[in-house]
Amino acid sequence: MPVHQLQDRLILTHPKGASAEILFYGATVVSWKSATSRDPHPTERLFVSSKALLDGSKPVRGGIPVVFPCFGAPTHPDHSKLSQHGFARSEVWSWYGATVMDNEAGVSVRLTLAPTDRIKAVYSSLFHLNYVVTLAEHQLSTDLHVENTSTSKDFPPKPLEFQALLHNYIRAPSDQVLVVPLKGLHYYDKTEPTEQARATPKVETRAGVDVRTYTDSVYENAPGKYEVTWPGGGIEIKATHFKDVVIWNPQEEGHKIGDMEDGGWEKYICVEPGYVRGFIQLEPGKKWVGQQVISVIQDERRMNT
Ligand code: BG6
Repeated sequence: MPVHQLQDRLILTHPKGASAEILFYGATVVSWKSATSRDPHPTERLFVSSKALLDGSKPVRGGIPVVFPCFGAPTHPDHSKLSQHGFARSEVWSWYGATVMDNEAGVSVRLTLAPTDRIKAVYSSLFHLNYVVTLAEHQLSTDLHVENTSTSKDFPPKPLEFQALLHNYIRAPSDQVLVVPLKGLHYYDKTEPTEQARATPKVETRAGVDVRTYTDSVYENAPGKYEVTWPGGGIEIKATHFKDVVIWNPQEEGHKIGDMEDGGWEKYICVEPGYVRGFIQLEPGKKWVGQQVISVIQDERRMNT
């Protein structure tokens, strides 16, 4: 069976050896294994801290947490009771057993989240989320579908205003990994000590962005296609309708993160396509889709050396 259900997760398998695991908690993808043409042994592509809790008591430190409806600390009045990065990553999503696709090209499942009593206690907007995860031989796609389920009969009709982001922890040596092409983009540096400095855009001057020092940068209006490479390896991320991208690695600051394994920051880079500067406005009855396709780079000439 290409889709196997366990108590806390779904396991997708592809006939060519790739696999993915998705927790119902947060719809968090916690494993994606894929081979390359050079190395036919499926290799883990995501980082999950060995101290991460997977029991639903706190968001998973690693994998691909789904950030919705706010990125970081809430700034929108509709989000004022929410915690950092919103509730999607810390709610149990539903799976109704449907396999969206199961053929040579890949296997795909859809998880859903609608307002629960717990969500309604802190968030009054109406919404419905579908999250479609598709596993192919060398590729993982994750698509977030957001619908404003309020109707135009509600008075006043209430647009859904939200941010969304896919918080990819890509397994990579953080002292060697580079991300391109971000040169020339405006970014906001969240490591700056003052509010004013954090709110002042900088211009990226580096051809390849590294995370050898503590990095927490929000790139605005980014190209949507990124190469994340290191000597001997690489991942490409293609994002649609996610106009921004966040690059995060805490380096030694990682000691302050309770569920980060010691030295965990040496093993990953977060490259997070999102819509996080400003808000998406969705009128009643309307839908929005943000998509990413993550692929293993096969061509050694595209890796940094
Ligand atoms: C990143 C943010 O997306 O997520 C960082 O830009 C934040 O500021 C990081 O520290 C991790 O967030 P959390 O809530 O999972 O610890």
